[in-house]
Formats: sequence, C-alpha cells, structure tokens
Amino acid sequence: MKDIKVIGSVNIDIIMSSQRLPSTGETVKADKYYLYPGGKGANQAVAVARTGVRPEFLGKLGNDYFAEIIINYLKRENIELSIKYGYDTGIAMINVESSGRNMITVYPGSNGNVSIDDFPGVKIKDSIVLFQQEIPLKTIRDFMEMLKESKNIIITDPSPYNDDIYVLQNSDILTPNQSEAQLLAGCEIKSIDDARKASIRIREKYKNNVIIKLGSKGSLINYNGEIKYFKAYSVNAVDTTGAGDCFNGAFASEFLRTENPDKSMEFANIAAALATTEYGAFPSFPYRNQIISILGDN
Ligand code: RIB
Repeated sequence: MKDIKVIGSVNIDIIMSSQRLPSTGETVKADKYYLYPGGKGANQAVAVARTGVRPEFLGKLGNDYFAEIIINYLKRENIELSIKYGYDTGIAMINVESSGRNMITVYPGSNGNVSIDDFPGVKIKDSIVLFQQEIPLKTIRDFMEMLKESKNIIITDPSPYNDDIYVLQNSDILTPNQSEAQLLAGCEIKSIDDARKASIRIREKYKNNVIIKLGSKGSLINYNGEIKYFKAYSVNAVDTTGAGDCFNGAFASEFLRTENPDKSMEFANIAAALATTEYGAFPSFPYRNQIISILGDN
C-alpha cells in the first residue's frame, strides 16, 4: 500500500469538565471548558499525520464560525485536506468527569449529508482507507463499491454502532470497542478470554480481521485467525475522548510502514494511552517520536 485516506466526520467538540457526569434532569457545574476540533474522521487523520504519514482527509464542514476554527487547526497538521462545505458544522457536546469517563451527544450537521458526489474525480488505489460511522452509511457503501475497482485495505471503526452488513463485510479490518464488539459478536465481554471468543465470532460472521479495543484493559487482534492480546500502556488518564480514533490512525500509519499487525498493535496501544493524558481529542494525540521512545524503553 502506498498511502492513507481517511473518509469521515469532522466536528467542533465543546468539552465540559466536571467532578462527575450529570444524571438525567440534573445540572452540574463545570470547572473548565474547551473548544477543540474533533469528529472521528478528523481525529483519525490527525493521528495518522502525527505518527508520520501524510494522509488525505475527505470530509464536510459548514459555512460557519466553527468551520474557520477547525480549518485553522487542521492546516497546522500534515494532512492533505479535501474539504467540502455545506450548511452547518457538526457539533459534539462532550461531558467529562474527573475519572476520565465521558458522555457525548453529536449533532451531525454537514457530516449528515456528505456524499461520494461531493468528491468528483477522487482516486483511491493501493491505499489504506479508514472509515468510521459518523457519516451516512450510504456514503460509506458508495465509497466501498468504488474501492472494489482496485487493491486497497479498508479499516472500519463500527462507531457509532451500526450493523450494516455491507459495510461490515466489505472491511478488511474491523476495530470495535468493547461494547461494539459485544453487539457484533452477540455475546458479553467480561474478560480477555471473552474478547478472544468474541473476535472469533466476529471473524466468522463478517469474514474479516478484528481488533477489539478494550480501553484501559488493552487490545486484542484476531488477524488471519491468529489471536494476540496486548496489555495497555499505563498512564494517568484525564479524558478518554478520541483515544479509539488515535488508536486507529496510529495503527494504520504503522501498518503502512511495516505491514506487521503485531508491531502496529504495540504502536497503537501506546498512542491511544497517551491520547488520554490531556483534555480534548486530538490536542492530546502523540507524535511518532514520543511513541518510539516509549517502545524503545519497553
Ligand atoms: O471519538 C471521539 C469523537 O466523537 C469526538 O471528537 C466527537 O467529535 C465525536 O464525534
């Protein structure tokens, strides 16, 4: 494979940090707030860029003030931007409590109507292509149909969860988190051994490779039927927002370089852990040299 394309969402993230998350009907006082770009697609593109590969990002913003803020941030990253403009920008309201747990509500805005027709003439060949599910499933299916015309590796994050058979079966690697893996496999995951069993079921059902992201418990890969578990790198987490996106971007960039799934898992595991050590999604994403220095010490 020669490059990485990321096709997906881009949002403005409004982050409120409080001692604990509010329950239904309750108002809690936030001690800090942050306004950062996010969206699973843009986050993955930033993670790819920071870990040493210049990706192309295909996404859609609004014609508004939030779009200007986002573009100013994205232009500072090593990303080829293929951005279209619709009416309004996607917004994510993110509540984070001191334990690092979060709650997210997303308004899709222009992500909700981005289509393959927004990118006439797009050429993707010999690429690793990253999808998530914050844009219309039809758009993902249309791109996947087009991608069949040449050799590519498709990595799909089935998040937010949706069990669209076409999307799932046409992915080479699926990267669910624990709850998405439970839904895909149709079984509970309470231990690493459960995750192992779930990965076998997902592989049988959708005929592809699987990475299950288990947060602070690490991650597991089932690649061509060979299953390996990777312990999490231990950090003091303050905000887990975007850690899964960072994992996918870092995995893809190391996989492009090495074509080695195990090395890419070790690399992505450290990247995702570091991504939890500051507030916001991509402001906390690490650069390649930070990850390499930790890998070297282990
Ligand atoms: O995965 C984290 C992302 O989900 C946030 O950046 C937010 O925009 C939501 O899309």
